[in-house]
Amino acid sequence: MEQTSIAAEAPKGQTLYERALRSLPGGNSRSTLFVAPHPPYAARGDGCEIVDVDGHRVIDLQNNYTALIHGHAFGPVVQAAAAALAEGSAFGLPTSSEIELAECLAGRVGWAEQWRFANSGTEAVMMAVRAARAATGRDGLLRFANCYHGSWDAVVRRGSHGVPAAAQRDVLTMALGDGEAFVAALDEHEERLAAVLLDLMPNRAGLQPLPASFVELVREQTARRGIALVIDEVITFRLAPGGLQSLYGVEGDLIALGKMIGGGFPVGAVGGRAAFMDVFDPRRPDAVAHGGTFSANPVTMRAGLAALQAFQLADIQRINALGDRLREGLRERGWSVTGQGSLLQIGSQDPTALWWRLYEAGVLIAGNGLVCISTPMDEQVIERVLGAFERVGAAVR
Ligand SMILES: Cc1ncc(COP(=O)(O)O)c(C=O)c1O
Repeated sequence: MEQTSIAAEAPKGQTLYERALRSLPGGNSRSTLFVAPHPPYAARGDGCEIVDVDGHRVIDLQNNYTALIHGHAFGPVVQAAAAALAEGSAFGLPTSSEIELAECLAGRVGWAEQWRFANSGTEAVMMAVRAARAATGRDGLLRFANCYHGSWDAVVRRGSHGVPAAAQRDVLTMALGDGEAFVAALDEHEERLAAVLLDLMPNRAGLQPLPASFVELVREQTARRGIALVIDEVITFRLAPGGLQSLYGVEGDLIALGKMIGGGFPVGAVGGRAAFMDVFDPRRPDAVAHGGTFSANPVTMRAGLAALQAFQLADIQRINALGDRLREGLRERGWSVTGQGSLLQIGSQDPTALWWRLYEAGVLIAGNGLVCISTPMDEQVIERVLGAFERVGAAVR
């Protein structure tokens, strides 16, 4: 990759960051990317590496928060997106591409016969909960503490600045993994609960797979009481052709997807059993409202299809094994690391210091230590990553 310096375009003596501060609060558009004092700006990516505007090259273990299963500029995705774009990027009519992606996802998640597309995982979660509310005729939502489900008012941390308490009036937040408290809450609130929202390996709660017994309890209790089980696999879908839920052997009623299924383009999808998804059918007089000017646009749909077609069982198993190798190598070197398969989280006493030292040593991770493997990686890349961890040393463990 040729090196570049976009910073040179800033007025003389001004850094790109200083220029950005004038038009973007804090210098960028995503709070989740912030690393103090401010993150560098990316210039371009190719395979599993990216180069920033100062020409510094790093192995990308962050992959746009796990979305880029094939890394950057993956040939089949570039070709599929370019071909779709050449025929028109979005239409005021549906296209065959959304049928194909829906069929592909239904083939992977057998119980989710029907799908609707959106532009982010946030929207997918929101529409899944709305479908559950419409189908059950109840308003209540039970979710688990410290689990991130996007930036929709109802599911952000209680007390979040700018979110009125009223937005969470019908939301019950429970401790994750406490089966007894969960059953007691259902006993008390069963009549008003539309849905339980569950992430099987929540990133912000430490990226540990939930105990199978707890997942089975949640499924059994929700089914018995007519409460919808909404599984959020926005991050974990990459772990198996049918997502992490298929490895548990537990079926939900609705599933929210995003990130990897768009091939690197903005995407969200809600899928589920026809009994729940029917609420979106616009032929119904009481249909649930769901639009989105760019929902199911053919560029995203075709890119997503190309990404999924190149992400079959053997590919998934290969990067899951690379993830196991990285986890093992990090543990051997004294790091604390969680996760499963191609998803890992590295613990540190000082995550910001770890982030910067690794970045300087040539590896990009997420601010909270979340990392993932992409298909362009191989054993040599993992060895290079382990070498970088050795260089940053024990001081930031
Ligand atoms: C588990 C989970 N659900 C939902 C979302 C929201 O997805 P998006 O950022 O595309 O809105 C995320 C984003 O990180 C997520 O990790």
